[in-house]
Amino acid sequence: MAFVKAEWPRRLRSQEWYGGTSRDNIYHRGWLKNQGYPHDLFDGRPVIGILNTWGELTPCNGHLRELAQKVKAGVWEAGGFPLEVPVFSVSENTFRPTAAMYRNLAAMEVEEVMRAQPIDGAVLLVGCDKTTPSLMMGAASTDIPSIVVTGGPMLNGWFRGERVGSGTALWQMSEDIKAGKMSREDFLEAEQAMSRSSGTCNTMGTASTMASLAEALGMALSGNAAIPAVDSRRRVMAQLSGRRIVQMVKDDLKPSDVLTREAFENAIRTNGAIGGSTNAVIHLLALAGRVGVDLTLDDWDRLGRDVPTVVNLMPSGKYLMEDFFYAGGLPVVLRRLGEAGLLHRDALTVSGETAWEAVKDVRNWNEDVILPVEKALTASGGIAVLRGNLAPDGAVLKPSAASPELMRHRGRAVVFKDIDDYKARIGDESLDIDESCVMVLKNCGPRGYPGMPEVGNMGLPPKVLRKGIKDMVRISDARMSGTAYGTVVLHTSPEAAAGGPLAVVRDGDMIELDVAVRRLHLDIPDEELSARLAAWTPTVPRPESGYARLFHDHIQGADTGADFDFLVGCRGREVPRDSH
Ligand code: FES
Repeated sequence: MAFVKAEWPRRLRSQEWYGGTSRDNIYHRGWLKNQGYPHDLFDGRPVIGILNTWGELTPCNGHLRELAQKVKAGVWEAGGFPLEVPVFSVSENTFRPTAAMYRNLAAMEVEEVMRAQPIDGAVLLVGCDKTTPSLMMGAASTDIPSIVVTGGPMLNGWFRGERVGSGTALWQMSEDIKAGKMSREDFLEAEQAMSRSSGTCNTMGTASTMASLAEALGMALSGNAAIPAVDSRRRVMAQLSGRRIVQMVKDDLKPSDVLTREAFENAIRTNGAIGGSTNAVIHLLALAGRVGVDLTLDDWDRLGRDVPTVVNLMPSGKYLMEDFFYAGGLPVVLRRLGEAGLLHRDALTVSGETAWEAVKDVRNWNEDVILPVEKALTASGGIAVLRGNLAPDGAVLKPSAASPELMRHRGRAVVFKDIDDYKARIGDESLDIDESCVMVLKNCGPRGYPGMPEVGNMGLPPKVLRKGIKDMVRISDARMSGTAYGTVVLHTSPEAAAGGPLAVVRDGDMIELDVAVRRLHLDIPDEELSARLAAWTPTVPRPESGYARLFHDHIQGADTGADFDFLVGCRGREVPRDSH
């Protein structure tokens, strides 16, 4: 249904707090005036919350307070009233047991912050992996007009003449150390080269993927995703977004107007074209659940199959986000998809334009970074969704990061009962394993760990690495960093901790992977599998109290987005009147 702008002027929700002469109105206005705001700012203009995930322990978002100043400038220019609001900042590189455990908590907080306060529109200032989906999820559940501004990626890392990609280089170098090909001193020297400016990971990891998908969904202005954090154009983008949100409030252009099924389909295809992170599967499923779009794992497989991966960025390719920006960034990719009939051109974006209007005239400035289709990294860049008796509810694999020779493989299972077991035994030279085996890791799903850590790309045994082998088939219910690579089956559902078949795989079982036909099979008789499942008992204890208890009791499977069961859906913007 075509979007129809609301009448303007009209009374906004912030006027419930500020617009009148009652005791309550005076209470709300008077206290805010302690920051020196003149009375005429409370005249009914849009109040814009700049929801800021800044934090010094979230280094990827460490520059967002400066960026917020540019957003504010834009809001003022357009006649709005900006107020910066700190919100839960989930840091990928510090949170334990895993940042993923806190995405839903952050989303819940953002939803309540937006609804409970006099906010007519929101600028979502995000960057690090979980901050982008969590704020979009929270905003979607209020349906208050919102626009995404990401902090932008770090500049290219360089070490001894080579590009050093965030995360990707870390995984590669740590394998090289295990294989005896790199010294510890060189590794330490490379550390600083990996992070030479403010910003998020500079590979096509989860942060860059989610920034790209926010843009493809239409939730950010065109071109937002790839501008480096320290480029002056990032600040211009922030200011323009500040201007834009004021008009969005006047028009009442809401998340539900933008986050349609067509928008999600555009984002899934975009993920294929950019070689995006498997984490996007979980985040988009959860976001779709917030706005009532019936998105499934099978949509990911179906929509991505005929999308070639043309963005030549690590971990699938060789360049980094800075190079992507100079080549033209995501608008070039969206134009490509549009020309190939793979974009819903009419999908509405926060700019008020359609997806196609925003990109139809852009150009590709570097065909080695954004490749022609005939030179695509892989012809089928989507996420492969595997099913079989080992994953009745599905598992995912990223073909562009996998080894072609392992896409069809039968091997003997070597089982680790959890990540501690893996760490304790993987370096043991007497471990009965070789490159033909299938490594199986259990109890790393949403409930199992808890929070579903990025350990699915478990490192290979040193004795295999020393042979020069770089990849083996690995299967788990865990996630994998978007910066990682390998023939890695992830998100196996139901997870082991919920009694899925993964829980009953044993050392020596034969496992068959056939990506072409999307099959993942545990080669034991059906009766044997049924008997093992019947005898299974939970091994992960239920926490006694606190957030861990809430998480354990309400987390859903990865196959539906790992949201809390009670947070699915949109609860709208209305709030009961206060009691002052
Ligand atoms: Fe924060 Fe990669 S760790 S963006």
